[in-house]
Amino acid sequence: MNKDYKEFNSFIVDITNNEKFKELRKQPHHGITRYEHLMRTTFYTYKVCKFFHKKNIRDVVRATLLHDFYTDDELTGNGAQRLGSHPLVALANATKYFELNDMQKDIIKSHMFPCNLIVPKYKESWLVTTMDKVVSTYEMLRFKLPLKCKTYFGHLFKKLSVEE
Ligand SMILES: [Fe+2]
Ligand SMILES: [Fe+2]
Repeated sequence: MNKDYKEFNSFIVDITNNEKFKELRKQPHHGITRYEHLMRTTFYTYKVCKFFHKKNIRDVVRATLLHDFYTDDELTGNGAQRLGSHPLVALANATKYFELNDMQKDIIKSHMFPCNLIVPKYKESWLVTTMDKVVSTYEMLRFKLPLKCKTYFGHLFKKLSVEE
């Protein structure tokens, strides 16, 4: 295990061992799982923080990992409403299981700005909302889109072969 990965892991090990958090390994998100999305976003955020020698790197990393800490059954409303509401559900879960400071709470609740109009108050919150958008775009193109195409063409070919 390289040095960076060891440090990264030491920041989050209690979160990844949390039983509720482990449920995210089965939650679909961007064509992969929510757990994978959180780990990817958090690791790249960690790398950016390292690059800028940020002093509060541990706090930023932990909040990033918790920014989508929810299961689908906890959300109500349609897709668009869920886009705006899930940060507050994630925040409620995060504060239930872990100690968070004001900056960490802000990172979680504002990460979907501008969808929910909660404007990030800290530069760390701006960093995480940006990283989340970059990583989400990558995941949608790399995983979700091929999955959708596979399903669509699968149905199409099945329909065509039945109609022959
Ligand atoms: Fe989110
Ligand atoms: Fe996210």
